[in-house]
Amino acid sequence: MRHLLSTGDLTRDEAVLILDTAAELAQVGDRSVKKLPTLRGRTVVNLFYEDSTRTRTSFEIAAKRLSADVVNFSAKGSSVSKGESLKDTALTLQAMGADGVVIRHSASGAAHRLANWVDGSVLNAGDGTHEHPTQALLDAYTVRARLGRLEGLRVAIVGDILHSRVARSNVLLLTTLGAHVTLVAPPTLLPVSVHTWPCEVSYDLDDVLPKSDVVMMLRVQAERMHASFFPSVREYSRGYGIDGARLARMPEDAIVMHPGPMVRGMEISAEVADSPRCTVVEQVANGVSLRMAVLYLLLGGS
Ligand code: CP
Repeated sequence: MRHLLSTGDLTRDEAVLILDTAAELAQVGDRSVKKLPTLRGRTVVNLFYEDSTRTRTSFEIAAKRLSADVVNFSAKGSSVSKGESLKDTALTLQAMGADGVVIRHSASGAAHRLANWVDGSVLNAGDGTHEHPTQALLDAYTVRARLGRLEGLRVAIVGDILHSRVARSNVLLLTTLGAHVTLVAPPTLLPVSVHTWPCEVSYDLDDVLPKSDVVMMLRVQAERMHASFFPSVREYSRGYGIDGARLARMPEDAIVMHPGPMVRGMEISAEVADSPRCTVVEQVANGVSLRMAVLYLLLGGS
């Protein structure tokens, strides 16, 4: 494995190796000195053309915990504003000795393009509406840590599937790992090709909730919408938001997940977001260990 572009590229064994490696590296976070020398002398560039809180900071912390040198590049304030292309930006960073490039871009396929231009490893940190592989991996890690397994679990992914890179990466990874996935959304927020995805589809959240071990709520991606996809926020929440009453209809051990950022009061109520059954903060913590694992396996592992 040279790049991490799509969870669809991972075999079951490769995905399990990443999760197991993350579990071992998580112990570094419990030490007083949270550092390993593994990637000393390696340079990781965080190349972010879109905003990020969780992904960028956790990739930076992960690389630093492995002793890599980290360069944070954001399109705002760079020569991108003068018209420099992604290719020329990438070649410039490569000329400075980047061993790994973590890229987030608004264009679907940007990470794949980059992988053709640079010699180092490319890690897709979210490309348009296409994929967000490390998010799916940290989600799978969190489910396994909470529920002890992935095989046979019933996972509902709820909300704006159409504009979500998290949904596609999760469907591909979770089915590889033996889970059964149901997408739940209004018809307007499902891709036309959804029948080709390896999962079921429902329009009825209340029907799916009692049969789910894991419910992943997705944010409505208003920044990617160029039309009206539902009548009002209130109507969306009534059909596809989770609140205390809906949480009570889920099996006792079932968990609620959210990749963040959450919009409280829309897809998730404050009561559910702050509930011990919601894993949103654990997901962020697990994201550091998971990103350490992929950096280690791509840049320094054997
Ligand atoms: N989940 C996620 O990708 O969050 P950020 O946009 O803050 O990185």
